[in-house]
Amino acid sequence: MTTVAVIGAGMMGSGIAQTSAQFGYDVLLTDVDLAVAEKAKDGIGKALQRLVKKDKMSAGDAEALLGRITPIAEYAPMSEAEFIIEAATEREEIKLKIIDAAGKVLAPNSIMASNTSSIPITRMGAKAVDPQRFIGMHFFNPVPVMGLIEVIPGLATSEETLKRSRTYAESLGKEVVIAGDDPGFVVNRILVPMINEAIFVLGQGMGTIEDIDKGCRIGLNHPMGPLELADFVGIDTLFEIVQVLYKTTGDSKYRPAPLLVKYVEAGWLGRKTGRGFYDYSGDTPVPTR
Ligand code: CAA
Repeated sequence: MTTVAVIGAGMMGSGIAQTSAQFGYDVLLTDVDLAVAEKAKDGIGKALQRLVKKDKMSAGDAEALLGRITPIAEYAPMSEAEFIIEAATEREEIKLKIIDAAGKVLAPNSIMASNTSSIPITRMGAKAVDPQRFIGMHFFNPVPVMGLIEVIPGLATSEETLKRSRTYAESLGKEVVIAGDDPGFVVNRILVPMINEAIFVLGQGMGTIEDIDKGCRIGLNHPMGPLELADFVGIDTLFEIVQVLYKTTGDSKYRPAPLLVKYVEAGWLGRKTGRGFYDYSGDTPVPTR
């Protein structure tokens, strides 16, 4: 069976690991240390148990899926992988370190993909061991549920890499869009300025958190309002994406909302810290302003 290695065992890396294992891949999962990868595997186990309880998956299938995920401490076993997927924090210097280290074990015919949400693929690919075998594969959160993968070839990415990446994405039951290698690609280029604008709207006192979200949920039929979604994605991640859009294009329309900057400075990063635009300490999220 084909092996996929995932570097970064946070929300996105865990989702990519779970989905790949669900569709029959053997998965190697790693993070800064083994304990983090093992904890992520436990988290996937809990998510699967919820599916079993809801009769959406058999206990046997859940066990087999989990059995296909192996947390690892070192990069060496990734020389078995057909795909190495970098899914670390959305910071270029962190991603480049990983791309460099993983390049040392990438098998001669294997592909390295980055799950970056915004950083140019050509720029990162130039630092990869083989730019022809480097590509962007942008998954959406929560990965097991969301039906799309954006595939982003860089300037040097080969046709063969694009074709194989598309085949892998489709083998996970996802739809694929091919996006140009400009900051934010297609979906975040549209989504992130919308969320940033919602934060401007909040900062200018034009509406409450509840009403801004309600307006978009009901008025636009979005499953989540922009501020709920900001908390879900992570306010630090959003800030990193806005910065990439702003700095790479130099266009002031992408400047971060002052309140977005303040939330990052306060460490109010959304669900993962228990507080963002909503407070998550109780049973149901409560708007904070
Ligand atoms: N594995 C498998 N299935 C899972 C799962 C998991 N880990 N977690 C949840 N599910 C399933 C549930 O079983 C449930 O299935 P059914 O509908 O068949 O019952 C379904 O997913 C929905 O889950 P919930 O009932 O728990 O929650 P919900 O109905 O409130 O939906 C949501 C939650 C899917 C997140 C929905 O609110 C939604 O679509 N929100 C918008 C998400 C979005 O926009 N994501 C993109 C973010 S942007 C991004 O990712 C790009 C970036 O770079 C920033």
